[in-house]
Amino acid sequence: MKKIIFILSISLIVLLIVWLVMRLNNPDSVVKSGYQASTRNTKIIVYDVEGLERQAKQIIPSGGFDYIAGGAETEKTMRRNISAFDNVDIYPRVLTGVDNPDTSTSILGIDISLPVIAAPAAAHGLAHVSAEAGSARGVAQAGTIMSVSTYASSTLKEIANAGGGAPQWFQLYLSKDADFNRAIVDQAERLGYRAIILTVDAPIGGNRWRDVRNDFKFPLELPNVAKKSIKTKGQGIGAVFAAAQNKITPYDIMRVKGMTKLPVIVKGIQHPYDAEVAIRAGADAIWVSNHGGRQLDGAPAAFEVLPDIARQVNKRVPIIFDSGIRRGQHVFKAIASGADVVAIGRPVIYGLALGGWRGVVSVFDYIKSDLKRVMTLAGTQTIEDIKKTQLRPRCVTVRCGNI
Ligand SMILES: Cc1cc2nc3c(=O)[nH]c(=O)nc-3n(C[C@H](O)[C@H](O)[C@H](O)COP(=O)(O)O)c2cc1C
Repeated sequence: MKKIIFILSISLIVLLIVWLVMRLNNPDSVVKSGYQASTRNTKIIVYDVEGLERQAKQIIPSGGFDYIAGGAETEKTMRRNISAFDNVDIYPRVLTGVDNPDTSTSILGIDISLPVIAAPAAAHGLAHVSAEAGSARGVAQAGTIMSVSTYASSTLKEIANAGGGAPQWFQLYLSKDADFNRAIVDQAERLGYRAIILTVDAPIGGNRWRDVRNDFKFPLELPNVAKKSIKTKGQGIGAVFAAAQNKITPYDIMRVKGMTKLPVIVKGIQHPYDAEVAIRAGADAIWVSNHGGRQLDGAPAAFEVLPDIARQVNKRVPIIFDSGIRRGQHVFKAIASGADVVAIGRPVIYGLALGGWRGVVSVFDYIKSDLKRVMTLAGTQTIEDIKKTQLRPRCVTVRCGNI
C-alpha cells in the first residue's frame, strides 16, 4: 500500500512539474476553448518584420501560426511577394532640402496618417485573446484604416466599438445564402463601416500544405458567419469556404453595389483585364493582391503585376496594394508603381500576438518611421512626390523592358 501511495505521489509531482514548465515557457497565454492565445499587452520593439514573425512563432500555437504564416503549396509565390521588391531600386536623391516628410494621405475621402492600412484577415483570435477588437484599437491609435474580414473572430459590433469611430472597412466573402449577404452588408453599414471590400480571388481556398499537414481546424468560432450561416469551430478552412459562393462574376459586383450606398472595393485583382472588368461593373476602387500568396502558388508576385494594372486603371479609381509589404522601401516602391495606399496582413497579426493592441501600434509606428527615412533619402517630401518618382528597374527577369 505504502509503495502505491509513494508511486502515486511521485507521478503527481512529475505531472505538476511538467505543467509548471509548460506554463513558464508560455506565460503570456491563457487557455481559451483549449486553444492558447496570447494575452500580452505591451509596446514592442520592432527591428524588422521578418524578426517579428520569428518571435510570433514562439507564442502562437503551431497550428494557428502555420495558418497565419503559411501560403499555398511550395510558398514560392508567397516568398516572391517580398523578393520582387528587389527587382527595382530607389534612386537616392540629394540636395533636395527634404525635411521631416509628411506621410499623411487620403483614400475614398478618408484622411489617414500614413499610406498603410490593415488588410482584412480571418481569425485574429488565433493570435491574441482580444482578436480583431484588439487590432482595431491599435489601428485606430495608429490613425489608419482597419479592414475587417467576414471570418473575423470578434463580432462586427465589438470591432466597431473598439475602433471608437475610427475608419473601418468591411470585407465580404459572398455566401451562397443571399439573405446572409444582404444582412451582413446592412449590419456593416449600420455600424458605421465606410466601405465594402468584395474579395474575388478566393472562390475556393488555396491548397495550403501546412494546414493540410496539420489537419488544421479553427479552434474558435468565427461569430459573424457562425450565427447566421454555418458552424465554424472545429471546421477546416475548406469547410468554411464551402459555404461561400464558389462562382464569382462581374454581376456580383453589381449585386453588391445594389445592396449598399458605401463604396465597393474589389480585392484580389492580378490582371489588367480583370481590373477593367471590375471598373466597368462599378468598382469604386481596385485592390491589387494575391492574398499574401495563399491562393495560387505559381502566380507572379503582386508587386510584379502592379505597374501594368495601374497603367490600365489610369487613375479612374484608387488602387490599394498588398502582399509582401514589410518595410518602408516596399511602401515607397508600391506607391511609385501606381498604388495609392498599401495594406499589411501578417505584420498586424504578429504585432497583436506580441503586444496586443499596443503591439499593433508598434508595427505601424515602425513602418511609418522607416518610410519617413526612405522618403528623406529619396528626396520626397510628400506621398504625392513618391507617386511622381521614377524607380530604376534591375535586369533580373528574361523580359527586362525599360533598360
Ligand atoms: C491569416 C490570414 C487570413 C486572411 N484572411 C483573409 C480574409 O478573410 N479575407 C481576405 O480578403 N483576405 C484575407 N487574407 C489576405 C489579406 O487580406 C492580404 O491580402 C494578405 O495578408 C497580404 O499579404 P501579407 O500578409 O504579406 O501582408 C488573409 C491573410 C492572412 C495572412
